[in-house]
Amino acid sequence: MCGIVGAVAERPVNKILVEGLKRLEYRGYDSAGVALCNAGELSSVKAVGKVVNLEQALNESDVKGTTGIAHTRWATHGGVTEANAHPHLSNNQLALVHNGIIENHDKLRTQLKAAGYEFLSDTDTEVMVHTIHQLRQNSDSLLAAVQQAVKLFEGAYGTVIFDKANQDEIIVARSGSPLVIGLGLGENFIASDQLALLAVTRSFIFLEEGDVARVTRETVEIFDANGVAVEREVHESNITQDNSGKGDYRHYMLKEIYEQPVAVRNTLEGRLTDNGVALDAFGSFSDGSNQNKNANDIFKDVKHVQIIACGTSYHSGMVARYWLEQYAGVSCNVEIASEFRYRSSYVHPNSLLVTISQSGETADTLAALRLAKEQGYMASMTICNVAGSSLVRESDLAFMTKAGAEIGVASTKAFTTQLVGLLMLTAAIAQEKGLEQSHIVHAIKTLPNKLEEALGLAESIEDLAEEFADKHHALFLGRGSQYPIAMEGALKLKEISYIHAEAYAAGELKHGPLALIDADMPIIVVAPNNELLEKLKSNVEEVRARGGIIYVFADSDSEFKSDDTMRAVNVNHVDDIIAPVVYTIPLQLLSYYVAVIKGTDVDQPRNLAKSVTVE
Ligand code: AGP
Repeated sequence: MCGIVGAVAERPVNKILVEGLKRLEYRGYDSAGVALCNAGELSSVKAVGKVVNLEQALNESDVKGTTGIAHTRWATHGGVTEANAHPHLSNNQLALVHNGIIENHDKLRTQLKAAGYEFLSDTDTEVMVHTIHQLRQNSDSLLAAVQQAVKLFEGAYGTVIFDKANQDEIIVARSGSPLVIGLGLGENFIASDQLALLAVTRSFIFLEEGDVARVTRETVEIFDANGVAVEREVHESNITQDNSGKGDYRHYMLKEIYEQPVAVRNTLEGRLTDNGVALDAFGSFSDGSNQNKNANDIFKDVKHVQIIACGTSYHSGMVARYWLEQYAGVSCNVEIASEFRYRSSYVHPNSLLVTISQSGETADTLAALRLAKEQGYMASMTICNVAGSSLVRESDLAFMTKAGAEIGVASTKAFTTQLVGLLMLTAAIAQEKGLEQSHIVHAIKTLPNKLEEALGLAESIEDLAEEFADKHHALFLGRGSQYPIAMEGALKLKEISYIHAEAYAAGELKHGPLALIDADMPIIVVAPNNELLEKLKSNVEEVRARGGIIYVFADSDSEFKSDDTMRAVNVNHVDDIIAPVVYTIPLQLLSYYVAVIKGTDVDQPRNLAKSVTVE
């Protein structure tokens, strides 16, 4: 989704801005732009398509500057055109970039047009820069104009603005879209994600909701939503930006699929004892009465878990429901964040709220967390891959997955490490309730090796993928905790190969989807050897009897055999507890190889963004 980079320095900042945008490319975007100021001269360069197009246009121009702002745009209001790309200017005086959506843009545009402002784009963003320009006419400073303007904006924004008349300062404002200030020596930076600035600094201030800040080369002044000057903590980042690129891999996604055994090993490291879970993996927090609370204070009393997430993270939550209810003796609801946030939900007694997110910045999940915090949960906890992200900062407890930076838009290693975090949560709650959980811990410990073994299936799956290249639809089936894995498999195939795919709990087939079965509809089945295997086999026979072709990923001892209507891929036997994690691997590989055969943009599939920071 959109990305922001800004800098105020003594040296030219062109390269810093372009490098920062490149580091945000993986988030998904469709155009890019930069505004630079040099000796009071304001210039802007924009390009549709990749950042490299912008870089080329910038290099071909003589535009340079010591103050600048840059942006990658993921279109929401207005098509993908240079005119709609950010930065937007007002009266060739102010330049502004924006992440988020201004919902009352129509009303503001009408007022601004009546006041004589000319609009050059179809975006909601352009109203911001003209509004600030209008208010600047009667304000003492750009800071004051921005503080007044944000009161008029409805919606979400992370915005950065400067005035060519005072190029030594940049004003930033955050509400609903993250912004971070990077601290340098005699120069300072702004970005929507610290990853953009890792080449220039490791010291970051994360702005909080409602903050407006004035950033100069030497100073950072921050004001909260009430206009009161505030100090925000400086964080030293130890994130390692993966600069090794794709290595020998053709795509980031393939590299990330292969990184899963290591990602899981890193996520487990130091967090398991011989037979249990080390509870400090979940952190601690101070409650309203300044009492320090640890995870065990919550886990021993919890009776219900409410999970909220989106997309792939939602699927990991769906798996966790099976685990928590079966092994930890607590009830569990799982809900899509965009639904949860707009309905009145019932809060069960002694409920723990759990959000799951790779990025920690997903707008719907964050909004759902903020809503739920008003509703009387015992505590909130997030399972997240990005330290310092909004969800981590705003949740009471946090379990950090150690997947490392995930660049491919389609989530792979973030998903399997989320599952590990959720399995550890299950074991930890069971442990604090005095339930038997050592079998879970022992199964978790086998995971890295089992994932390695599953990756050994790549070659046979690559061969299978050929049969999908001309297909337009696919159906994924699973039962029990493999049903959400089937959902995740269908999502992966949709995202990167653009083949329409749906997932069903196999027992639902005869209630409707059986009507779809014919030789053109591949059916992908995940079939570990568990107590549901015989039921699943009956479902498979129902499909075969109707001419469907089955692709089954099955336990090596479950006796599925390849023939005219079935392609069976044997997966080494694994403990049923960890089977959802292991069976994810062949489905990821299948989607990947189908997408490669179809020639799609695997790492940045069309229309999608890595971090969905707008509603
Ligand atoms: C997964 O492949 C997708 N890119 C998407 O569904 C993603 O999981 C979803 O947008 C949630 O993101 P989050 O984990 O960063 O909150």
